[in-house]
Order: sequence, then structure tokens, then C-alpha cells
Amino acid sequence: MAIIQAIRGTKDILPQEIPYWQQVETIASQILARAMYQEIRCPIFEQTSLFERGIGEATDVVGKEMYTFCDRKDRSITLRPEGTAGVVRAYIEHSLYSLGGVQRLWYKGAMFRYERPQEGRQRQFHQIGVELIGTDAPRSDVEVIALAVDILQALGLKSLRLDLNSVGNKEDRSNYREALVNYFTPYKLDLDPDSQDRLTRNPLRILDSKDAKTKEIAKNAPSIINYLGVNSRKHFEQVQQLLTDLKIEHKINPCLVRGLDYYTHTAFEIQSDDLGSQSTVCGGGRYDGLVRELGGTETPAFGCAFGMERLILLLQQQGKAQKTKPDFYFVSKGEKAEAQALILAQKLRNLGFTVELDLSGSAFGKQFKRADRSEAYACLILGEEEALINNINVKWMLSKKQETFSQSKLLEISDQLRQQINESKQN
Ligand code: HAM
Repeated sequence: MAIIQAIRGTKDILPQEIPYWQQVETIASQILARAMYQEIRCPIFEQTSLFERGIGEATDVVGKEMYTFCDRKDRSITLRPEGTAGVVRAYIEHSLYSLGGVQRLWYKGAMFRYERPQEGRQRQFHQIGVELIGTDAPRSDVEVIALAVDILQALGLKSLRLDLNSVGNKEDRSNYREALVNYFTPYKLDLDPDSQDRLTRNPLRILDSKDAKTKEIAKNAPSIINYLGVNSRKHFEQVQQLLTDLKIEHKINPCLVRGLDYYTHTAFEIQSDDLGSQSTVCGGGRYDGLVRELGGTETPAFGCAFGMERLILLLQQQGKAQKTKPDFYFVSKGEKAEAQALILAQKLRNLGFTVELDLSGSAFGKQFKRADRSEAYACLILGEEEALINNINVKWMLSKKQETFSQSKLLEISDQLRQQINESKQN
């Protein structure tokens, strides 16, 4: 019979990769908690109109990439392509603003975009996202960017670049849009087909084209920086100054336009040189109009999201995750011994040890080989002879020293065992 395979663009995350995922999740949640960000969990699917209104109908995400379907009552539903719109919906729906002050939120989870799959680009992918809702202070832009940089640094990732731009406010962008259309129109036939299409729909996105000829033409296009009004310019300068004060290196990239329409003012991306074409590990910016657009009151906000798969690729390349090793690998043979091993393993786990119990019932030799492979700190050995007198052997894998205890004694000396394991860990 034909084997059913995972859907193209989706991936199983297998147990050997999980330590990398846990490492990213633990570090991010610790760093965010220290800055008083709280986790929020929103549904994976939402009404389609949330994304159409929130992200913008002219974007590729909404126009070409959404997983949209009708449910059994013929309502249009979409698997979330990103997390910000859902968080903002929840913020409005639950009046989170009434709690006072700003809302500092973060989330993790699967997102869905119908893109052409390749290394670092999937149809189901995962993000960790951060949203700071309720202030337009330049310090809030920098708080989030600095947290993103902190997380990447704590993960030990190197060769990262921070690109920064401002896309101004609505008025700045409308003036700039006109200038871009005027500039690109004479070159229309030389642009790649996507960019030709964007010329009327979303001309800013032409600046983001990967096509060599379009890129060449875009080099001399007017820069958004020259179209920023006084307030937008002031905001942008303050953000740059604060980043410099924090010694966060950054480069102004006037071609940086994000793929979602809700951005205003600051936009940023963090890129890695080690990821090939899918090089952005984190992207975000300010979105002062989104809460209003989705039915709330005028509320400024700033946020960003990390692409988990890309972070994991980098960690794997740099060999950063540790294998999880058990404290004890438990081998046993014979009916009585196996029954006792099951009970003793449970008791040791309740005392806080990690214990891998060999369930094979195979010859001791084979079980010892598996004990070696597990890289446990010690091997617990229970044969029929030990079982008869309620004893247990402990073999320390590093020193090869073997000791025999009564089973009750083993539990009594748990502090001593823990100390020995900790010493082995340090070696
Ligand atoms: P985004 O730039 O569309 O922004 O996605 C953020 C990150 O998610 C990207 O930089 C990338 O690392 C990862 N990513 C995006 N698409 C894929 C894919 N198909 N496969 C693998 N990874 C992918 C947002 O989603 C905004 N919601 C970020 C934000 C939060 N802005 C303000 N608040």
C-alpha cells in the first residue's frame, strides 16, 4: 500500500531536533519574561477578513499565500499566516487596553503560507513573536529590537546584521509611492513580471525584488528617507540614536520594505550570512494603524517575529545544542528483577533523576551496549541474584567503578548520587 507522506512544505520535528527547539523557546521566554512580556496563545485559524484588513489585500501574503477555506457553515476561514493580526484582534476583543499602561505580549506557534518550499522556507513554519502595544515612544521600538538582539546573542548566533529603515506615516508613504511610480514607469517593460504587477498594486515592494535587472533599476530609485515628514524623521533619528547608545550596530537600508502592509515608521530585519537566500531570521517594525484598522481605538504598537526553522538551521550549523543524556540507564533481566526495576526507576524519577529503563529483556551484553550509547552517567544493573536479596549495582560509566547497595539504601543516598552525577557533568 502507498505510504502517506507529510504534506509538501511541512516537516516533522523529530526527537533529535527537539533540544534545539527547546533551547530557543527557553532562552526567548526567559529573556522576554525578564522584560515583563507575557505569553498569549491565540487560535491558529481566524476569519479571513482579519488578515485581509490587517495585512492588506495588495500583499503577496493575502493575495497568493493564504490557506483559506470555507467551513461547514460556508464561513471563510484562514490558517494564520502570521501572528500580529490575531494578537491585535485579541487585544481589542478582550479590551486589554483597559488593564492600563502598555501591553507587552509574546507568542510562539505555527504559521501557514503557501510559498515555494526551500531550505528555510516552509508552508507550515513556526514563529516566536513579540508585540508591544500602546506606545509610540522611540524607546519602545528600541526595547523590542534590543530584546531580539539579546535573544540571538544568548543563543550564541554569530554573523548577524541588523538592517533598519523607516516607511514613514500614511502621508509620507503616499508621496513616496507617487515618486516611485513616476520613477519606475519608464522602465516598466524591463521589470520582472511580479514587479510590473506591483507597479500599480504595491510599488514599494518592487524595492524588495530579487530579480537582478529590477534590482539594478531600483538602485537609483528615490529613497523613502527623503520623503519622511518632520515627525517621522525625528522618530527615526531618535531610534537610531538609542540603538547607538545601546551599542547595537545597525545599517540604514532604504530598500527595506516589509511584506505586510500594516507597517509605519520603523521597519527592521536581522539577517544571517549563513542561511543562503532565506537569510532573514527576525523581522518587524512599528504598526501604528493596525489596532484602529481592526476596529479598536487609535493605538500605536511595535513588534517583531523570529523564524524558528531558520534559527534552528543556524544552531545546527554551529553545533549549539546538547544531547539530552539520562542520569541512569537501567538494565535488568529476569521476571522479578524487571518488575523491581520498573518500581525503582519510578522512585528515582520522583527524586528528580532522569532514568531510561531498558524494556527489551535482551541479554545483558546487548543492554550494556545501549547503556553506552545513551551516554548515561551511570548504569543501574539488576539481575535475578540481586532481585532475590533486593540489591542493585551501580556502575559509573566514566570511572567504570561499580558499587552494590540495597535498593532502599540507593534511595537514601540520593543526594550523594546527585553530587556524583553533577561532578561527572562537569568533567
Ligand atoms: P514576517 O517578516 O512575515 O513578519 O515573518 C517574520 C519571520 O518569520 C521572517 O523573518 C522569517 O524568519 C520567518 N518566516 C516567514 N515566512 C516563512 C516561511 N515561509 N518559512 C519559514 N520561515 C518564515 C511577520 O510575520 C510579522 N508578523 C512580524 C511582526 C510582529 N511585525 C510586527 N510584529
